Amino acid sequence: MKVFATKKEIKSYLLTLKNKKKTIGFVPTMGALHHGHLSLIKKAKKKNDVVVVSIFVNPTQFDKKEDLINYPKTLKNDTILLKSVSCDVLFLPSVKEIYNDNISSQKFDFDGLEHQMEGKFREGHFDGVGTIVKTFFEIVEPNRAYFGQKDFQQLQIIKKMVRKHRLDVKIKGCPIFREEDGLAMSSRNTRLTEVHRKAAPFIYKTLKKVRKKFGTENANYITEWVENKFKKQPLLELEYFTIAEEKSLKTIKNKESNKKYRAFIAVFAGKIRLIDNIRLKND
Ligand code: PAF
Repeated sequence: MKVFATKKEIKSYLLTLKNKKKTIGFVPTMGALHHGHLSLIKKAKKKNDVVVVSIFVNPTQFDKKEDLINYPKTLKNDTILLKSVSCDVLFLPSVKEIYNDNISSQKFDFDGLEHQMEGKFREGHFDGVGTIVKTFFEIVEPNRAYFGQKDFQQLQIIKKMVRKHRLDVKIKGCPIFREEDGLAMSSRNTRLTEVHRKAAPFIYKTLKKVRKKFGTENANYITEWVENKFKKQPLLELEYFTIAEEKSLKTIKNKESNKKYRAFIAVFAGKIRLIDNIRLKND
């Protein structure tokens, strides 16, 4: 596995491959890799000649300094995992390399997607994500880029950015990877205390019940039902639950037959914020 820390070096290496007509798959990450990340890399390996993974804890997408400082850093283990799935190139830039002395975000207009759900609770988050992903796309110039559906809003926003800015890259959304007890895999899970880790599978259990209820009940009723369920969970604090349409990400009142819906949730398990979502059947 080749490792590069500067834009200049990685660009010049990738250029030699592009000149040989090699296709490039890109998996951007913030490190603390888990099986969810590895599944993205495996998918990328199947479709592309070369797979580039970036590890960069992007300061501009954190709304809380504490969260940025405490974000898990496990580079040694990440490197072992990357080699185990035959990752070809690791891009590991410093903050200075990416932002120079100006650690700030570009402002984006994602046609309102950025004001829903996460956007309401994490100010500036999607400008930070847009800034770093666009920067990486400009450096790596991948043919395809891979993102997990756990961050479904992020995935939709990146697709929107690619369309609006006419970027020449195909965005691939990949299924959520879960622990055996259903908890969605996340780098943040390692920061859960033992009691909160035990309580956390309740999130997915609730989402599965939501999926069942969506067949017969309306969205308002289900939302109240979820809110009441969480009121009885002392270890988990519900930040939001909403049933939204997949494209606009707007909360729905009534179902329409030709639309796709998902239930989205954000929960604090102690100090750790967890998000998850589930596709709903619209019959
Ligand atoms: O999903 C993530 O890990 C991050 O938001 C991303 C896409 C790597 C950008 O920093």
